[in-house]
Amino acid sequence: MQAKTPKESLTILTDMVLPGETNPLNNLFGGELLARMDRAASIAARRHSRRIVVTASVNHVAFSRAVPLGSVVTVEAKVSRAFKTSIEVFIDVWIEDRESGKKTKANEAIYTFVAVDETGRPIAVPEVVPETDLEKERFDAALRRKQLSLLLAGKMKPNEASELKALFL
Ligand SMILES: CC(C)(COP(=O)(O)OP(=O)(O)OC[C@H]1O[C@@H](n2cnc3c(N)ncnc32)[C@H](O)[C@@H]1OP(=O)(O)O)[C@@H](O)C(=O)NCCC(=O)NCCS
Repeated sequence: MQAKTPKESLTILTDMVLPGETNPLNNLFGGELLARMDRAASIAARRHSRRIVVTASVNHVAFSRAVPLGSVVTVEAKVSRAFKTSIEVFIDVWIEDRESGKKTKANEAIYTFVAVDETGRPIAVPEVVPETDLEKERFDAALRRKQLSLLLAGKMKPNEASELKALFL
């Protein structure tokens, strides 16, 4: 299977925040942003694997800035690393200033998808070859995040989490 670069999976969704998508403070409802990120990230994972993909885990979400009603929101998703059947996707969320067009980072998240066959069984995916410094940084830390996610899900024992242990020893 031929390895792929992160940019081959790049997926960009741009949309507005409408009144039905906000909380009582007139900012984008968190669940709506999670859904937009899930959609963009699943397309990125599908572009990488060319398979059916399912969301296995939401590893990290930081709602660092509120996104006001009427904002133009861009959700950028890119595969950061692939393991045997699982694919980690980084999502960066930007809001665009109406007058200047300047983009400000509002949120970020990391999702894990698993490629499956028609019966839902996990299936192998291509490796990732990072190119930029940021892609290399995200690639290098992905195994640590995978182990943490498996540990929290009760799918890995603490003494098996070699990357996490290395952080503390
Ligand atoms: C995701 C799913 C396919 C994993 O099935 P499973 O029986 O745990 O399969 P495996 O143990 O073989 O794991 C498959 C891969 O997923 C990874 N994985 C499983 N759970 C994970 C978690 N919580 N975090 C990170 N990775 C996880 C495993 O490490 C493995 O990765 P690898 O092959 O790259 O090493 C299965 O749990 C599933 O279908 N879940 C429902 C998905 C879904 O419907 N999502 C939408 C929610 S509404």
